[in-house]
Amino acid sequence: NPIYRKDYKPTPYLVEHVYLDFLLNEDKSTVKSKLSMTPNYENSSSTPKLELDGRKDLTLISVSVNGKAVSEADYERTDKKLTINNLPQGKFDLEIVVDIKPQENTSLEGLYKSGGNFCTQCEAEGFRGITYFLDRPDVMAKYTTRIEADAKAYPVLLGNGNVLEKGSAAAGRHFVVWEDPWPKPCYLFALVAGDLACQEDVFHTVSGRDITLRIYTEAKDIHNVSWAMDSLKQAMKWDEETFGLEYDLDLFNIVAVSDFNMGAMENKSLNIFNSRLVIASPSTSTDLDYSRVEGVVAHEYFHNWTGNRVTCRDWFQLTLKEGLTVFRDQEFSSDMNSRPVKRIEDVSRLRTAQFTEDAGSMAHPIRPDSYIKMDNFYTLTVYEKGAEIVRLYRTLLGKDGFRKGMDLYFKRHDGQAVTCDDFRNAMADANKKDLTSFAAWYGQAGTPQVKVSPVYDASGRTLTLKVSQHIPATPGQAHKKPVPIPLAVGLLASDGSEMPLHLKGEAGEAATTKVLLVEEAQQDFVFTEVPEKPVLSALRDFSAPVKLQVEGQTDAELVFLLAHDSDPFCRWEAGQTLLRALLTTLYHAARDQKEPELEDRLAAAGGVPESVTSALGSLLTSKDLDGMFIAAGISLPAATELIGDIPNIDPLLLHNVRKYVVKQLAARLRPQLEATVKQNESAPGDSFVPGEFDQAARRAVKNKALGYLSALDDPAVHADLLERTRSATNMTDQISALAGLADSECPERKTALEELYKQWKDDSLVMLKWIALQAGANVPGNLKNVEKLVEHPAFSIKNPNACYSLFLSFLRSAVNFHAADGSGYKFIADSVLKVDKINRQVAARIVSSSAFTALKDYDLERAQMMREQLTRISAENGLSENVFEIVSKSLES
Ligand code: ARG
Ligand code: ZN
Repeated sequence: NPIYRKDYKPTPYLVEHVYLDFLLNEDKSTVKSKLSMTPNYENSSSTPKLELDGRKDLTLISVSVNGKAVSEADYERTDKKLTINNLPQGKFDLEIVVDIKPQENTSLEGLYKSGGNFCTQCEAEGFRGITYFLDRPDVMAKYTTRIEADAKAYPVLLGNGNVLEKGSAAAGRHFVVWEDPWPKPCYLFALVAGDLACQEDVFHTVSGRDITLRIYTEAKDIHNVSWAMDSLKQAMKWDEETFGLEYDLDLFNIVAVSDFNMGAMENKSLNIFNSRLVIASPSTSTDLDYSRVEGVVAHEYFHNWTGNRVTCRDWFQLTLKEGLTVFRDQEFSSDMNSRPVKRIEDVSRLRTAQFTEDAGSMAHPIRPDSYIKMDNFYTLTVYEKGAEIVRLYRTLLGKDGFRKGMDLYFKRHDGQAVTCDDFRNAMADANKKDLTSFAAWYGQAGTPQVKVSPVYDASGRTLTLKVSQHIPATPGQAHKKPVPIPLAVGLLASDGSEMPLHLKGEAGEAATTKVLLVEEAQQDFVFTEVPEKPVLSALRDFSAPVKLQVEGQTDAELVFLLAHDSDPFCRWEAGQTLLRALLTTLYHAARDQKEPELEDRLAAAGGVPESVTSALGSLLTSKDLDGMFIAAGISLPAATELIGDIPNIDPLLLHNVRKYVVKQLAARLRPQLEATVKQNESAPGDSFVPGEFDQAARRAVKNKALGYLSALDDPAVHADLLERTRSATNMTDQISALAGLADSECPERKTALEELYKQWKDDSLVMLKWIALQAGANVPGNLKNVEKLVEHPAFSIKNPNACYSLFLSFLRSAVNFHAADGSGYKFIADSVLKVDKINRQVAARIVSSSAFTALKDYDLERAQMMREQLTRISAENGLSENVFEIVSKSLES
């Protein structure tokens, strides 16, 4: 039974203060709570009932009101609630005692154990697994937490806020009392008790306060947290400089745990992280790992203002804090590293994963209308598309206008639980602009499709852009209205220079990029004083989350843009558009005939044209571009970018077409690729400097080039890659070399995998990469190896990271997941059922990441086999609501 956004009602009672006492033990733990309740209802003769959330595995010991036990007749329990009747008028104290068993909690929601330590995860609705409570974000209270545990086994006891008191208790136990002065919803509550090592640092705030920063990990990892610590300090400084936001307590803690469902969690002053997003060392972490640590540390820190100080009224508003905080972390990373490269990465992710979600059975607006399990809505749509919608305001209002909007948002709403409308209104009011039409972005699912046709009139020297938009139907939303789309454009002259832009009917200085606001289904924009037929550069910096089609655009124009566009995003995009078109053409050619061999059919259809090869060749050898940009520029669009655009796709054929294109490019650009490798080889004495862009950029382009060369099936290349896995001085190079071998059936593959295992078997984070590479391999018949991996000591089904590495990687193997006999689908369905008994969030994430949610995009045989597996999952006894929601929506679509 779904919950609907339109049904929102405040609770009849609020909680002013929460006192929690945790008695942590090995057999069971006791949680005593004392809540100061205040009425939140209209005065009436009888008092409303109080419905508290609580999971069925809570063992209720006692309930009392104002010190007197509540009689059995005055409360009721169900699997999900504790309802108390006949409450007194006015304020009262409610005391509840429950027993829980964190050591048996494999769902990793609420209080659980990881690596022998106690920790919590309460967002979205984990607090109800700890005690009975009003578990929703609009109930904000001040918390005092007493934690008591065995002093030897759990020397470190952490809570939110400041330490109020500590001391020893009977039988070798000790306790700490924490007090958090800031009111918060219970989803921000956290507790950690364990045997942890700590690295400490200090941050001097702009107003002159000293903040103590501590990162806690298991002792073996503590020497690898300095990158996370540096990132934290950079983020604190950036938020002061960019948004005037300073930290609001004297202590900030981060704890790394190895069993964690998501990336990390912004609990007030006690962030808890998946260890893979804290721990980093050159020999075990890739450049990508480093940048993820930097981004996520910043993300969680930024939540202190966007999420904690101002929080969400209800979970439908999740994008209020997540979209905004992702936008903030994207901007931070752009300022720390290369802005164009960061933009390209973010757009790629949006296109490969969010566009797919928007076109599938789980499609939902960034502010959903209903859900069965909130945990299913921590999605790319809410996060990444939500960030794009925040970016629209920045694009439209400019940097200063956006800052004004943020200032007003905090001025109005600090300490409150608010809605996305409140955010939009702050942006509008601070800038005296009407932004009402932007509400449509919050209410409609689906990716808008935008068409632009440029029409040049030589005699009138005008260029008319005819723009139209259409949003495809999504489940439950057949018809959509237009959304406001800021469309940034530029015009290039034949010499590659930027034309000054004069928009008809608009005065003011001529700029070379102009943001057009498309608000109608169809709209014309006229540029005057256009001296020659220009080449259009549209959707600069990806100014809106749409699919763009420029009508009449030729390959020659794309090659021109790839070489000359001053907008780095559009420059990259020109190459991607060229490649997408090529893949699509070749796919159709290959599908329409069955004879002769695939390679011959593709060659007969024109193969890879010289224009494409030479355009990529000049990108590769360009002297004015950095290696990260070049690596992104010569990358082929992911298969998922084409799925959905080609009806009833055969994923295996698409895979083979992609493989063909890669091999052709590798063969024809071989000299340039080899030269790139040579020029970007790190010198013997070079030491790895974390976060140094230049080094990382060289590794990126070198490894991209090696990746192409590996497609040649040349024994010399295989031998070289094996040698590289041995001689690499950092994980980026080591794992890239191994990845180059992963899809081939050469003997070097086996050797390299065995050697890497021997070298790193005691490092669980490296083992995740080792698992992922094997599980995602496109070697035919790999399923039996993957089944063996499930039994391998390096894999544990109880560990979310291990599950994601194995199952999510397998989903990306076209050859094995999409095997024509349906064995890959069956394996995933079996695995989902197995995981669901242990951890419902992880199981749900596996199904929702799978092609099962987009089955109608695939050829009829495959769609039918996927449907059979979904039916089988849905028939399972005791299936979680999490998996049920995704499976049932996929079967309906
Ligand atoms: N708020 C966290 C973050 O984005 C994510 C927590 C998600 N938890 C969950 N169970 N879905 O930083
Ligand atoms: Zn977040």
